[in-house]
Amino acid sequence: LARGAAEPDLAGRHVVISAGGTREPLDPVRFLGNRSSGKQGYALARTAVARGARVTLVAANTALADPAGVDVVRVGTAVQLREAVLKAAADADAVVMAAAVADFRPAEYVTGKIKKKDGQDPAPVALVRNPDVLAEISADRAREGQVVVGFAAETDDVLANGRAKLLRKGCDLLVVNEVGEAKTFGSEENEAVILASDGTETPVPYGPKEALAEVIWDRIAGRLAPRRA
Ligand code: CTP
Ligand code: CA
Repeated sequence: LARGAAEPDLAGRHVVISAGGTREPLDPVRFLGNRSSGKQGYALARTAVARGARVTLVAANTALADPAGVDVVRVGTAVQLREAVLKAAADADAVVMAAAVADFRPAEYVTGKIKKKDGQDPAPVALVRNPDVLAEISADRAREGQVVVGFAAETDDVLANGRAKLLRKGCDLLVVNEVGEAKTFGSEENEAVILASDGTETPVPYGPKEALAEVIWDRIAGRLAPRRA
C-alpha cells in the first residue's frame, strides 16, 4: 500500500509515553510521592494520536481523563512503571519518559498502619534505590533505531546539568526545564530546551504543554528510521 502525501508523520508508529509521578508506599495509607501532574505526558499522548501514532500511555497516579484513542496502563510505583514501560517498549518506535520516577523507595513496606508511640520520635525511614528506567531502556534498546527521550526538571545550572544528564542516561533527547516556585508543576504551560545527543539544542519558548509536545514529536520524527515495508 502506497503511503499518501497527506499521511501524518507518526502513522504506523507505536510510541510509549510515561506520565505522572510514582508513589512509593510506606504503609497501607502513606507514600513518598512528588508533584508531577502528568499534564505534559498527556499532552504528548494527545498530540501523538493526532499525528497518527498508536500510543501506549503508562500513567502513574494521574487525576486526568484518559485521552481518546490511547491505550492507558495505570501504575503506582517505580517498579510497576518499569514493568509496564519495558513491556510496551518491546515493539515501540519511540519511548518518552515524561514521568517523575521516585529515585528511592522505603526499604521496608509496613503491612499495618504505622502508629505513634507516646513521647517518642519516629524511627528514621530507610530508603533504597529504585531502578533507573530511562538509563535501562537507553542502554538496552528493544528495537534497533528506537528513539528514547528523557525529561529533566532542574533548579540550578539547568543546561549544564541537562547536558551531563543526557550523557549519563544515554538517551537520544533530553527535555530540560527549570523548576522553581509555581513553575511547571500542575501548570498548563511549560518552557524548555530540548538537548540532543548530536549536540543540537532546541529552545522552546514558554507556552502550552501541547506546543512543547509538538516540537518534541518533530525532533523524534526526524530521528525515526524509515518505516518497514
Ligand atoms: N527516570 C527513570 N527512572 C528513575 C529516575 C528517573 O526513568 N528511577 C527518568 C525520568 O522519567 C526522566 C529522567 O529519568 O525522564 C530524568 O529524571 P531525573 O530525576 O531528572 O534524573 P536523575 O538521574 O534521577 O537525577 P537527579 O539526581 O537529578 O534526580
Ligand atoms: Ca530523580
